[in-house]
Amino acid sequence: MNDNKSAADWAKELATNWEARAALPSRDLFVASHPDWNDPETWLRRAKTEISLFFAGLDMEWLAGVDVLELGCGSGRLAGLVRDAARSYTGYDIAAGMVKAAQQRCRDREGVRFFVGDGLDVPAEAQDRQYGLVLSVAVLIHCPRTVIATNIQNVWRHVQPGGQIRLSVLGVHNDPEGIVGPQDEVEKALETIVSEKQSVIANLSDEERRLAFDTYYMGERFRYAEMEPFLSELTGGEVALYRGDPGCIYAAITKP
Ligand SMILES: C[S@@+](CC[C@H](N)C(=O)[O-])C[C@H]1O[C@@H](n2cnc3c(N)ncnc32)[C@H](O)[C@@H]1O
Repeated sequence: MNDNKSAADWAKELATNWEARAALPSRDLFVASHPDWNDPETWLRRAKTEISLFFAGLDMEWLAGVDVLELGCGSGRLAGLVRDAARSYTGYDIAAGMVKAAQQRCRDREGVRFFVGDGLDVPAEAQDRQYGLVLSVAVLIHCPRTVIATNIQNVWRHVQPGGQIRLSVLGVHNDPEGIVGPQDEVEKALETIVSEKQSVIANLSDEERRLAFDTYYMGERFRYAEMEPFLSELTGGEVALYRGDPGCIYAAITKP
């Protein structure tokens, strides 16, 4: 339907929709859409789980000595946790309202900074260093393919040699490739994802429902087999894939 829409046009639409979500008192619901998103303990526990999935297999001593960039930082949910593990943290987001909330949340943290981006490229202020790790957690799952490709190409220029981009995209439903582990555990994890989604949806207000369903919200779905060629062609880096959860495909792209 929207095959011919340019990345720039998509970025404008995404900015409008995310700004509207950021303006709601329930903005954090859109940052991490899990049950009890407004309970601080659950919020932190889920953020820690999310970060551990993204840090899987990383050399934590190496990480402590590098700068980290987060593409799509939202309201700063992960910033403090990343900063605890790295030399510095820089986050940027397409929605100014999200950036403002992130700045507020992390106002007492040193070595943490946030910028507003255009949805396609690294903001100029953040281009002052090379990053050991670029993270994009639950962001590209909300973007069309052309926006995903443009962002990956652009952040790649700011990754230091030996550094990585780690990201997640939506997997195609029923594509079992890459899912490892006992079948009953995988099925249980899938059931949990579905029932959590249903319980969150059941509690949405009219405006939240509009912003979750009547506007562009969920992004391109990828088959596991297409990810490696897609990412290698965009970057020339070494691609490793894993299924952090059965609904998504996680990728680590390393710069030679
Ligand atoms: C679900 S939230 C995740 C936020 C954060 N990464 C986390 O996990 O807590 C997605 C965020 O990505 C931002 N976003 C969406 N598309 C973007 C783009 N093309 N460039 C930068 N930010 C984007 C949204 O504004 C939103 O704050």
